[in-house]
Amino acid sequence: LSDPTFSDAIISWQRQHGRHTLPWQNTRDAYLVWLSEIMLQQTQVSAVLGYYARFLERFPTLRDLAAAPVEDVMAQWSGLGYYTRARNLHKCAQRVVAEYDGVFPSDPRLLAELPGIGRSTAAAIAAFSCGTRAAIMDGNVKRVFARAFGIDAYPGEKKVEEAMWRRAEALLPEQGIEAYTQGLMDMGATLCTRSSPSCERCPLQARCVAHATGRTAELPVRKPK
Ligand code: ADE
Ligand code: SF4
Repeated sequence: LSDPTFSDAIISWQRQHGRHTLPWQNTRDAYLVWLSEIMLQQTQVSAVLGYYARFLERFPTLRDLAAAPVEDVMAQWSGLGYYTRARNLHKCAQRVVAEYDGVFPSDPRLLAELPGIGRSTAAAIAAFSCGTRAAIMDGNVKRVFARAFGIDAYPGEKKVEEAMWRRAEALLPEQGIEAYTQGLMDMGATLCTRSSPSCERCPLQARCVAHATGRTAELPVRKPK
């Protein structure tokens, strides 16, 4: 019997069951990828779709966005929430124009120095727009890791989070970083949900510690009081 590796299992699942036709997929245009990742940071795909299309109609290129008055950017963002994202989006566009001649850097460490782009978002942008092998670690991914590996400590704690980042880096596939990154995000959002994970459909089921030990309700460990 074969024992597919962690990343192989996720990549196969993504290729068979994941979404492949979202408007920010099937492009390596960093502007399109970046905009989608910022909108998706705190908002679900279904809510982002309409905003994403209207935003790009109004600001077709990074330079259009950078040159626009901030009020216009805020107006296009109105209703999406978490408005700091919109202010940072505008600042980021201006910095990429001023510092990088309008071309996003491909190094995730440089991306992470731009406004509104944290380490995980930087990795996602680099993976989707350049195929760069870089690890993501957002709330959904922390939940998948905590359960799959039976991590018995609160992931909000710095040492625990650092260990998760190291594990995430060690698990990166040599090939297929786009499918892997998207698969991990989609699994965390659609299968390994907070309150009732669909373990029967999960590609990690055979190797998942929480599933094997009946502890999906206890993991990830909640914030200590
Ligand atoms: N959340 C953050 N990035 C995402 C993406 N590319 N697809 C789905 N959900 C996401
Ligand atoms: Fe999450 Fe269940 Fe998959 Fe484990 S088997 S990673 S708990 S969905």
